[in-house]
Amino acid sequence: METSLWSKVVQRALDRGILSETTPKVFIYHLDKLQNTWKQLFDAFPPKTLHTFALKACPVKGVLSLAFSYGFGAECASIGEVYLAKSFGCPSERIVFDSPVKTMKDLKLALDDEIYINADNFQELEKIQQLLRENEEELCNKQVRVGLRINPQIGSGLIQETSTASAQSKFGVPLKEKLEEIVECFQRYSFLKGIHVHVGSQGCTWELLEQGIRAGVDLLVQLRERFPERLQTLDIGGGLSADYDGVSQGASFEEYVSRLERVAPELFDSSLQLITEFGRRLCAKAGIFVSRVEYTKQSGNRNIVLCHIGADNFLRPVYLPKNWKHRILVLDKQGGNKLLDGREYPMIEQDIAGPLCFSGDIFATGRLLPRCEPGDWLVVLDSGAYTLSMYSRHTSQWVSAVYGFHENSNEPFQLLKKEESPEELIRFWS
Ligand code: LLP
Repeated sequence: METSLWSKVVQRALDRGILSETTPKVFIYHLDKLQNTWKQLFDAFPPKTLHTFALKACPVKGVLSLAFSYGFGAECASIGEVYLAKSFGCPSERIVFDSPVKTMKDLKLALDDEIYINADNFQELEKIQQLLRENEEELCNKQVRVGLRINPQIGSGLIQETSTASAQSKFGVPLKEKLEEIVECFQRYSFLKGIHVHVGSQGCTWELLEQGIRAGVDLLVQLRERFPERLQTLDIGGGLSADYDGVSQGASFEEYVSRLERVAPELFDSSLQLITEFGRRLCAKAGIFVSRVEYTKQSGNRNIVLCHIGADNFLRPVYLPKNWKHRILVLDKQGGNKLLDGREYPMIEQDIAGPLCFSGDIFATGRLLPRCEPGDWLVVLDSGAYTLSMYSRHTSQWVSAVYGFHENSNEPFQLLKKEESPEELIRFWS
């Protein structure tokens, strides 16, 4: 079902010249699927919740401006993302600035704009204090809102590289060792108004998510007893996994909320501002990456398919080859699914290789797929999150265009981001 939907999208892209021999790679988001997912999130949580969109998952203008007009705020992991969020339509009061490494200049810009800051550590709190002292006149009428990120130290889940809550994680203040100092900080810095806990991303188990959030709630309850007026905000991060194999059903937002209601009912106290920071679950399943097969070759006993799916636009399978396996469809020149169209294509094991100049630039190894030929189209499913946003400039490939697709429309394609031009590439390196 999902497969035939995406084949249809590619066929329409071919008909309209969005994909061609001269435009051999493109990202496509299914806009109706995106918005259905967002609706499920907004319906599941109480209406007062601030849902921020983790920009690092997909910083594409066309997607973000749609999200901001839908009601999302922005979770920004750098001051660059703060600029993007503002210029794509997110009001400052809905921005959460989360970078683990912030300069004085970054913090000053955020304070000037009254942006909610999640401080990563005690040194950062001291930097903020210093800025407030040194710029007292300028900042005295501003609303200063700062939360402290804690690391609940509960374990690393299924994938170490995307976990942020192991005992030795680089993120946040280690809760178990520093509880007393955390309480002292709330005493010392009256601008501290909340707690932030983000347990990790793909690979977080239920137990981990629940334990992490429970630890944040326990701390909040404890601090609220001491500072009843001040503790207003709990930011529970993102971290719901997506189903990349197309089999395991990821939990719904509704299920997530009902589990939270059981393990941490305090979250839904009306005096609390609850913040979420989902990324992957907002867009992963709604996007595909499509690449033309340029060449096929045999080398030793390997069948190699050379295409545009490289570590430039698809880093994850290269740096985490064991933990992620994206589904791939093979379509013929007209967009017919080689598995389904009734003709006989031999299934053979093929390595999908990208255009970069190192041997490790392999998207999939020994993947059993219908035999590919030059001119075929490879469709990588579930590519909507953490793909384009992790773009690498190695060998200066063009950054592809991004289109949005509306299922029931005469004008089904909408340009969400232009393909990079030679001038833009030259400017990047100048
Ligand atoms: N909040 C914070 C502070 C984060 O660090 C992240 C993700 C999120 C929210 C959003 O988490 P999500 O709901 O998307 O799981 N490079 C990896 C992804 C790393 C995610 C990092 N932080 C990948 O290739 O999938």
